[in-house]
Amino acid sequence: MNLALSRNCQQLPPDDSLFESIACGLESQGYVVLPAVLPEPLTRGLLDYLANLEAGAFHVARIGRGSRQMRNKFVRRDRIHWISEEHPGGTGWLTWLDQLMQYLNRRLFLGLFSLESHFSLYQHGDFYRKHLDAFKGRSNRVLSLVTYLNRGWEPDQGGELVIYAPESDEELVRVVPGFGTLVLFLSEDFPHEVLPTRRERYGVAAWFRINASNNDHPEPPE
Ligand code: OGA
Ligand code: MN
Repeated sequence: MNLALSRNCQQLPPDDSLFESIACGLESQGYVVLPAVLPEPLTRGLLDYLANLEAGAFHVARIGRGSRQMRNKFVRRDRIHWISEEHPGGTGWLTWLDQLMQYLNRRLFLGLFSLESHFSLYQHGDFYRKHLDAFKGRSNRVLSLVTYLNRGWEPDQGGELVIYAPESDEELVRVVPGFGTLVLFLSEDFPHEVLPTRRERYGVAAWFRINASNNDHPEPPE
């Protein structure tokens, strides 16, 4: 990833803009934070989906893969619900993610192949300690995305996402989980954490994968 700014990401036409702003940010620095940009029909669909989930729909998130999966309350406390086409809001969201994936493939030649996404709910006191979403050579997760569905987040309510530099571990950015704020970063490169939250924190996470065969469920050979 070229760390030099290849062009000014701010000077784009306002409309072609969201996917291009994402591509430009990823191309220039490997991560991008865009406050309050998620299109309204998407947030409306996601909120409606959330409102229609049963109380028991969120379950404890697991850490690790396959048989090594475990729960670890010291690492992460959030609960999740995988997004599917069970609700039109889920269909709209997954369709938009797929369009974004195709745009990024054309624009950055990332070779992204599939995606997955879940809601996450952090209750008062919940956090997610510093981690990577993928380990080099051990996962086919390439790109991580998060967005938030919380209105009126106050500075003293915690719950920020902190993103660290790949090599130095220096803090790069602290993201307030405000409504429609979009964050993307390369999964293998950027350690990040969620600071303890002091109110309910609703978010959506997604990962884009390449079609690698070194995973738990290899794609069949062609
Ligand atoms: C994750 C994650 C960040 C956030 O789910 O892996 O890092 O801000 N989420 O919710
Ligand atoms: Mn993560």
